[in-house]
Amino acid sequence: MTERILASTCHFFPDTCVPTMALEPVVDYPFNAETPLPALTTELTPTNLFYVRNHFDVPPINPFTWRLQVSGLVKKPLTLALKDLQTLPQKDLTVTLECAGNGRKNLVPQPSGVPWGHGAVSTAVFTGIPLKLFMAQAGIHPTVQELVFTGADCGEVAPGKQEAYARSLPIEMLSDPDILLAWAMNGEPLTPDHGFPLRLVVPQWYGMASVKWLTEISATNQPFKGFFQENYRYETETSSRPITKMRIRSLIGWPIHGAHLALRPIEISGIAWSGRGAIQSIYVSTDGGASWIRASRKRPASPYACTPWRLVWQPPCSGNYTLMVRALDRLGNQQPWDPVQNLHGYGNNSIQQIQISVGSIG
Ligand code: MTE
Repeated sequence: MTERILASTCHFFPDTCVPTMALEPVVDYPFNAETPLPALTTELTPTNLFYVRNHFDVPPINPFTWRLQVSGLVKKPLTLALKDLQTLPQKDLTVTLECAGNGRKNLVPQPSGVPWGHGAVSTAVFTGIPLKLFMAQAGIHPTVQELVFTGADCGEVAPGKQEAYARSLPIEMLSDPDILLAWAMNGEPLTPDHGFPLRLVVPQWYGMASVKWLTEISATNQPFKGFFQENYRYETETSSRPITKMRIRSLIGWPIHGAHLALRPIEISGIAWSGRGAIQSIYVSTDGGASWIRASRKRPASPYACTPWRLVWQPPCSGNYTLMVRALDRLGNQQPWDPVQNLHGYGNNSIQQIQISVGSIG
């Protein structure tokens, strides 16, 4: 646990915020933790502050004996060590990952599942090889409908039923040159929590698609029905839809909810992201939604990365304020006032509100 709680010096707001930051555990076993919101104001999240979503314990992996198997309906089944993969042309891609359950804690009534606040979202530079390039080596049979990605972690999904974490992608997605088999994150090998030695990174999709601790890719002509495929769905009384791309969302990283600040200009900042269209504009309200001011935004590091934003605001007088942020993307998507309800509380992209107080600080 100690290395997980590595404190990092706060470079963001040296005079105003807490001096150190660390991941905020939400569940201890298996380890699940949020990124502290003040770390979500810049393009990249340091790896030691990148949120962690584990369904089971981190699997023990020996890098010397670990192999990736490619099986099923392929012309040439493969068994490869990491060094074999690393001989192929690699690329770096900055990608924002968000857990589909992010924001569940704020739903009323609160659905079962990990009670994430707002911090199950982070951004890193991932290094790896395009899945498309890699699978070309194996050769896909023309009848293949899906690729199934299996992780080394395994556990009980129903009484007496053990299953590995596995997810599939439709074969059409193989044409995407930016889905990566990644072995590095922010320039270093993946850490055990983030999928060492190899993980899938599926840009724009909610994080459940980015299978960690990858051991097998299997080509199939059947729809995959594994537990983690069937469970990540928007379920209502009348409908059931698979969860795919991230909904548009934004958050305030600084100040934090409950902050008490001096009566002087305040830099409000955070990030916005969407798996559906580039972020076009970000608006902040300092009066509980009565009026909105356009925030300035920074160019995202890639089409798959979050957009950092900021607004310098002079509070008119001492008192309590409700701050809000909302984003719009180029396809016209925007955040709803109220959460779009579904059984498991997935995809809650409703407008965030925080309360702060402003006045003399003695
Ligand atoms: N892959 C495996 N093998 N096991 C898991 O529990 N969790 C998924 C995904 N890949 C998971 C997994 C979910 S739900 C999310 S949101 C992301 O990993 C989180 O990635 P991170 O822990 O690196 O942030």
